[in-house]
Amino acid sequence: MKQEVIAIVLAAGKGTRMKSEKSKLVHKIYGKELVKRVVETARKSGIEDIITVVGYKKEQVQIVLGDTVKYAYQEEMLGTGHAVMQAEELLKGKQGKVVVLNGDVPILRTETIKKFVQKSIKHKESATVLTAIYNNPTGYGRIVRDIGGNITGIIEEKDATDEQKKIQEINAGIYCFDIQELLKALKKIEPNNVQKEYYLTDVVRIMNEEGLKTGAFIVEDNTEILGVNDKMQLELLTKILKLRINQYHMQNGVTIEDIDNTYIYDDVEIGTDTVIHPNTTIKSDVIIGKDCELGPNAYIREGCRLADKVKVGSFVELKKAIVGEGAKIPHLSYMGDCEIGAKTNIGCGTITCNYDGFNKSKTIIGDNCFVGSNVNLVAPVTLGKNSFIAAGSTITNNVPDDSLAIARERQINKDGWNKK
Ligand code: UD1
Ligand code: CA
Repeated sequence: MKQEVIAIVLAAGKGTRMKSEKSKLVHKIYGKELVKRVVETARKSGIEDIITVVGYKKEQVQIVLGDTVKYAYQEEMLGTGHAVMQAEELLKGKQGKVVVLNGDVPILRTETIKKFVQKSIKHKESATVLTAIYNNPTGYGRIVRDIGGNITGIIEEKDATDEQKKIQEINAGIYCFDIQELLKALKKIEPNNVQKEYYLTDVVRIMNEEGLKTGAFIVEDNTEILGVNDKMQLELLTKILKLRINQYHMQNGVTIEDIDNTYIYDDVEIGTDTVIHPNTTIKSDVIIGKDCELGPNAYIREGCRLADKVKVGSFVELKKAIVGEGAKIPHLSYMGDCEIGAKTNIGCGTITCNYDGFNKSKTIIGDNCFVGSNVNLVAPVTLGKNSFIAAGSTITNNVPDDSLAIARERQINKDGWNKK
């Protein structure tokens, strides 16, 4: 029978400590909803079939994820085991592995999920628990091992003895189970604990008692398994993610002047030797070439494609801008829905007027153009290659190749006027 890998994302929780009208799961980290980031990470790790368990404010989560996942509903919060039970119908009859993820643990790496599942398959474990070693394990479930080092169960802080509380290996709340063994074990869990909840963690003990193989995968980077419970933690995780992404680009040869004040979202490609000055933000879905210079204070939004040796200077906002090699947009510009040719220079304060209140229109600027300062380009409009636009012009008509366009009032000087 076909061996599958399925993911379950737990997203039914209330998130009281966020003090928000919104579900915790739809709060954004670097522009992306927490739960969406988790689903995308699972998908990038190769898992296509994803079940999301929703409950509290489920509509909000469903709007974000749409029909990219299947849903299971948990009406009452009766514990993590109960949450997973809600996915039973969707798991029945399937063979293989199911990975349980948390919708509020957003910066887990794709690579970690891959290695974790591979370990579980290779070692033929019915349950593999993602664990970490914490200096301060307070609050987490502790991993209980026998003298041989085998995992025999997980004990919650609230149920733990003083001796067990000293255990520093914690349960990250992320598991890889054999699907059929999980379904069998879930039938056996009971809410006889301090919190009167159905604990998913009990599955590990039950499987162990039945002689099934259980194991752990210790995460290398402890920050990956941090969750978001309040807005301070959201800020902390955003910072960790920022550093991780910036380091990734630096390892690829990008020069970042100030790692703390550079904001690069997911899914950005940047060529080697590009220099990024402070306070630059680059949103998702952007590709930047080699040897470019960006910032300080540049804002490069979705859909931009910058060729090599492009300069984007201070207070420049780009959106869906396709910029040719060696083009320069040095200061104070908004260039949206546009193409800018190679070696073209965009003067200070130039703006594409791309939106008329109803539609977005395109501005096409050829190669080798010179656009003077403070020019308004009222889209749709095309500037031919090698054209020259006089400073202060408001351009509403296309400009032919190699020509000069001036579109401004002529100046009048009144001699002696100010002496009267
Ligand atoms: C759980 C683990 C604990 C682990 C910790 C890691 C259990 C019993 N304990 O504890 O060992 O160290 O996670 O963070 O599993 N959820 C539902 N429905 C429910 C209850 C929870 O969907 O009825 C969701 C929550 O929204 C959350 C996740 O499950 O995303 C974990 O629940 P949470 O209450 O945070 O578990 P902990 O008590 O922290
Ligand atoms: Ca938790």
